[in-house]
Amino acid sequence: MTWTRRDAIKGLGAVGAAAALGPMRAGAADGGQVAAQAPLRILFIGGTGFIGPHMVRRSLARGHSVTLFNRGRTNPHLFPEVEKLQGDRDGGLDPLRGRSWDAVIDTSGYVPRVVRDSAELLRENVHRYVFVSSADAYADFVKVGITEDYTLDTIDDPTIEDAGRYYGPLKVLCERVVQELYPGRATVLRPGWIVGAGDYNPISSYWPMRVHHGGEMLAPGRPEYPIQYIDPHDLARFVIKAIEDDVNGTFNMVGPGSPLTVAEFLYGIRAVTTSAVRFTWVPDDFLLEMNVGAQTDLPIWFPPRDDYPTGAPFEPGAKGFHQISGARAVAAGLEYRPLADTARSIIDEYLSRSTPWATTRRRFGLSLEREAEVLAAWRARQG
Ligand SMILES: NC(=O)c1ccc[n+]([C@@H]2O[C@H](COP(=O)([O-])OP(=O)(O)OC[C@H]3O[C@@H](n4cnc5c(N)ncnc54)[C@H](OP(=O)(O)O)[C@@H]3O)[C@@H](O)[C@H]2O)c1
Repeated sequence: MTWTRRDAIKGLGAVGAAAALGPMRAGAADGGQVAAQAPLRILFIGGTGFIGPHMVRRSLARGHSVTLFNRGRTNPHLFPEVEKLQGDRDGGLDPLRGRSWDAVIDTSGYVPRVVRDSAELLRENVHRYVFVSSADAYADFVKVGITEDYTLDTIDDPTIEDAGRYYGPLKVLCERVVQELYPGRATVLRPGWIVGAGDYNPISSYWPMRVHHGGEMLAPGRPEYPIQYIDPHDLARFVIKAIEDDVNGTFNMVGPGSPLTVAEFLYGIRAVTTSAVRFTWVPDDFLLEMNVGAQTDLPIWFPPRDDYPTGAPFEPGAKGFHQISGARAVAAGLEYRPLADTARSIIDEYLSRSTPWATTRRRFGLSLEREAEVLAAWRARQG
């Protein structure tokens, strides 16, 4: 099935219809209607990495019962109180046979063949399939204000399973599997950058911890550039609400429609610390020249330009990258916590660790030494 504008509109229609249902909502395919106050049974395929635990906690806080299905490798100590089924979703789904749930939340699907296996197996025994896709599903970010019906990424050979290289187009194919098998019962989420506590890729922690560390700090590009992220707490609240309200359709999961500027982001983080930090703004041309990589050296940040030189590590024409529309999700109940809460929760989590941030080796974010080099070179350039 091809995802079309018509489907998007149908999805929105279902939001309205669900709201009109009032206190009743559809139950599991095996169980008919479920009263609004009844706890729901929610299965996670995954659940123990970064965003999964936020969703599990939210489910439990709402009184729902949770089953986790995963290989038992990632954070197996988490959630001793919930039911755990162990297996590899790629060929090892047997523990799910003969069981039923009101909803499944699939946070670990990257390859359509594998998503098809779980979606087919659960089809008669689960009412709603929530698939966590990505904003990378879009073909490009040329447009400002991308809505859910924007052009999606494609792949010539749909049997390719290299999710590292073809992450976006494979997510699109996974979405289509779920939409095909669960017509009217598929909720597809396309998050942009997820920034919050519990991020095992230390992407989220770089900016808050760098500001907290203090001193002279490299601030990238121009202060007025937009920057957009979604807090995993907000994502989790939306997902569980969508299940409770039986919300159908596809939703961008991104920050507010008028995004923060990079300056607001950095000063907002500074406001929740006592650090004496001084921002030195370094233009993107100079960062490019110094081979400072957007996303890796400077996570989340992505300059909204469309004139990158050939070979630059930035995607050309990416003005819309941090300006995706979250309007549909907001209409369906997405609420945003303030940046202060996001920043403080990240800093508090990091400070509770035994290793100081400044000495931690990082996959993402400039080391303090490299940052000092770039700042010194920038000063030298200015004479
Ligand atoms: N981070 C971002 O900024 C961002 C942005 C957009 C979209 N996303 C999407 O968000 C999702 C990331 O979520 P997360 O990793 O934080 O989810 P999570 O549910 O918290 O963690 C991943 C879970 O998947 C399980 N898992 C991995 N491989 C498995 C397998 N073969 N069989 C069974 N279980 C398996 C892991 O447990 P075991 O290892 O024990 O099996 C773990 O419980 C992804 O779908 C990603 O594409 C992320």
